[in-house]
Amino acid sequence: MSRAHVSADYYYRIPVRPIYKSYPVYAPGREPAGYEEWLKRQEPETVFEVSKLKTEADWIKAGEVVFDAPIFYDALVRAADVKDPLWHVKTGALAAKDGSLPYFRYVVREKGKVELGTISCAMCHTRVMPDRTVIKGAQGNFPRVRGFAWKPKQNCGEENHSNNWQGYRNYGYVQYLVVRRGRLIRKPDRIRISRSFS
Ligand code: HEC
Repeated sequence: MSRAHVSADYYYRIPVRPIYKSYPVYAPGREPAGYEEWLKRQEPETVFEVSKLKTEADWIKAGEVVFDAPIFYDALVRAADVKDPLWHVKTGALAAKDGSLPYFRYVVREKGKVELGTISCAMCHTRVMPDRTVIKGAQGNFPRVRGFAWKPKQNCGEENHSNNWQGYRNYGYVQYLVVRRGRLIRKPDRIRISRSFS
């Protein structure tokens, strides 16, 4: 494999990643009544439109949307994980005062399918303090290594652990590249580290 800068032509052809409307994720038993069913009824919706941003306040609000926007879906950490009370015991992830896990968002890209969104800025830069208040943009304290080590076969790939961990090792540097079988696979919108790679 050789490394080179991409051309400007290629760079400007990279499609803009859509940002879907997203919803808070809660620790088990802390979600509002009927939340899961309600989420399943939501329509997919994109929420970042430059043409609609007029005032400084609009831009600040949009900045928070971008900060919270996941780029992986049900990969590294899945919805099934955060619904499992044991995951919380084993990872030690702190929930905020309102029961939410501000590192993640639920995303509806297809109606009826609610995915856990990961690898947003918020995942690594949100700090839940000992009194369970939330600081956005801080040094984050989601326990990433314990979180990703939970069921790595399901969450980071099925083939074998060395491949899984190669993907894992690279995630922080180049978040949209996954190394698998020595090839670089680039999927700008949909990253699936799990079984849908074939
Ligand atoms: C997978 C985890 C992860 C994600 C996702 C992530 N960061 Fe970071 N970020 C880090 C880590 C770890 C560092 C510290 C790196 C170091 O000090 O070597 C860092 C450092 C930074 C710094 C430098 C802070 C300083 O004090 O110099 C900024 C700014 C930053 N990140 C912004 C962002 C933004 C904006 C996003 C989303 C677009 C983002 N990060 C997504 C993990 C992450």
